[in-house]
Amino acid sequence: MIDPNEGDVRFENEGSLEPLPVVRERTVVMRAVGLTKIYSTVSGKAGSGAAALELFRGLDLKVHAGEMVAIVGESGAGKSSLLHLLAALDVPTAGEVWCGESRLSGLTPKQAADFRNRDVGYVWQFHYLLPEFTAAENVAMPLLARGMERAAALEKAAYWLGQVGLADRTANRSGELSGGEQQRVSLARALVTEPKILLADEPTGDLDGKTADAVFGLIQRLHEAHGLTSVLVTHNLEFAERCNRVLKLREGRLVDARTSPTEAGRV
Ligand SMILES: Nc1ncnc2c1ncn2[C@@H]1O[C@H](COP(=O)(O)OP(=O)(O)OP(=O)(O)O)[C@@H](O)[C@H]1O
Ligand SMILES: [Mg+2]
Repeated sequence: MIDPNEGDVRFENEGSLEPLPVVRERTVVMRAVGLTKIYSTVSGKAGSGAAALELFRGLDLKVHAGEMVAIVGESGAGKSSLLHLLAALDVPTAGEVWCGESRLSGLTPKQAADFRNRDVGYVWQFHYLLPEFTAAENVAMPLLARGMERAAALEKAAYWLGQVGLADRTANRSGELSGGEQQRVSLARALVTEPKILLADEPTGDLDGKTADAVFGLIQRLHEAHGLTSVLVTHNLEFAERCNRVLKLREGRLVDARTSPTEAGRV
């Protein structure tokens, strides 16, 4: 009922109305649109025909700020290939990858390297540390590569080694550390640049069960403590279930594994 004496138009039931839920547009940190990847099975030649291997066609992905997304899928499904495209380590046959407002397609090799150094933290299944360099030097490497002064880079490296529980091993050569410790160092190296996104390709795949559990738990804690945005490839469904979303790469598409649990169970 409208009260003609009121300045504002009001309705009788106004007080009982529930406020509408606030729709928060979450920031999309990384976006893949219509990605197609076709490898040539004849070395060095990408294309179509009998010698072509199509991994995905028209694949879409959005990763929101603060999300921890697991990607699962059978061996050979193309999980590593997808991560390489997201990190501008490779180029798609068609489609686009965006990181924030930056479109990765069409970057020169130098621009792609700068993008990786600035915006991406990448953890490989094997750590790829330089064994003759100390843990701190290994972690400082991406900062030195972008021209940061050595003392400042080592200071940051020491901070991140502390974050991965290795504050007392900064001066050890990485070759002197255990497999689990080396993977922690590589995690610190991935995060030392404070990247927009952490991409990890089976980061616990080379570790025994207990160590894998500890390293995955560490990734999860760092993700939460530092508000990271992370995409993790894993064969371990228990780890995948601890992520915000589980996507399965199957027949060239990413499907939500939680809405089709029987499919997820077969990974
Ligand atoms: N540079 C390349 N040239 C040709 N084929 C390739 C290339 N890289 C990968 N492939 C092929 O693409 C397919 C997917 O490989 P990819 O490494 O992405 O799979 P994956 O899902 O990561 O497997 P896994 O779980 O075993 O690591 C495989 O058949 C592989 O042989
Ligand atoms: Mg792989």
